Amino acid sequence: MMMTRIIGTGSALPEAVLTNDDMSALVETSDEWIASRTGIRTRHLAGKESGVSMASEAARRAMENAGAHPEEIDLIIVATCSVDNFFPNTACSVQKELGIPNTAAAFDMNVACAGFVYALHTVHAYFLAGIYKKALIVGVEAISRLIDWTDRSTCVLFGDGAGAAVVEPSEEGGVICISQHADGSLGDALVCENREIENPVSKREQQLSYIKMNGQAVFKFAVTRVPECIHEVVDKGGVDINDVSLFLMHQANERILQSVAKRLKVDIAKFPMNLQKYGNTSAASLPILLDEVSREGLLKRGEYVVLSGFGAGLTWGATLLKW
Ligand code: ACO
Repeated sequence: MMMTRIIGTGSALPEAVLTNDDMSALVETSDEWIASRTGIRTRHLAGKESGVSMASEAARRAMENAGAHPEEIDLIIVATCSVDNFFPNTACSVQKELGIPNTAAAFDMNVACAGFVYALHTVHAYFLAGIYKKALIVGVEAISRLIDWTDRSTCVLFGDGAGAAVVEPSEEGGVICISQHADGSLGDALVCENREIENPVSKREQQLSYIKMNGQAVFKFAVTRVPECIHEVVDKGGVDINDVSLFLMHQANERILQSVAKRLKVDIAKFPMNLQKYGNTSAASLPILLDEVSREGLLKRGEYVVLSGFGAGLTWGATLLKW
């Protein structure tokens, strides 16, 4: 069976770190409130870094880790919802930074916090169709540009960063089953509007929009849909959920992950977390976590691993992998 194997990972975080105490100097909040509601203690924010610079650095490290040369990469997908430029897309800018030749295709995907799993699934489908042989997948967010730094209900939650993976088709291990879903009818729960259309036939009031979130609706969505899609992939793959070694989840909130673990009746120790350090880095959170657990040696050949992302759209999905 052809699987899509992750053969190298990398990540890059911006230098500047803000603690919860730093946040309480900006808005009326406290370390106690943020840590007890979310688990978050610090977050990294882009200062001199950009989305492209973080994505390129994470990609460079993933390629080094995989032993992959630029000329081998024939597909680049960047998952992001906070692009530096409408165009060129981030993937083309990463291609330029890394010297990947024009034999490769490069595009961005916006599936918010579910972006990395959707991108991995897209590559998997290409590989199954016999198109492409080695792909670079990046999740990156400079999401701080979409945040109203006077809104305490959202600004304490997010952070910037990038993670990347190099993947190739393999008979030995990799993606076994995928599940991905969307429900646009619930999209209002988490929104960031673009600027208004302004042209000779439409003059509208320009007002920059920032992330607006119905926190409780997002919480409820995540704790019901995520266990469902995880069950979907393990059932499809014929794997007992207790035989999964690690559940690598989008790092939104510690309480969401505790609730997901409880609903799955799985020990929370199988859910590694780094949201304490980085906050919610949206599409970047899963590949950053993947890179950390990989470098810590927690991923063992032949073991089952589940990835799951969920976020704006609303969108969600899961991947079952044999490592
Ligand atoms: N500091 C202090 N008080 C705050 C803060 C803050 N940073 N933010 C909100 N509050 C206040 C509110 O104003 C409210 O006060 P009021 O009762 O006087 O009106 C009170 O705290 C309770 O607000 P709630 O929104 O009801 O707080 P809740 O317990 O639901 O926690 C949270 C909010 C943490 C956002 C929670 O709803 C949650 O975890 N939601 C999941 C959403 C999430 O993780 N989103 C991330 C992005 S989406 C994604 O990645 C999928």
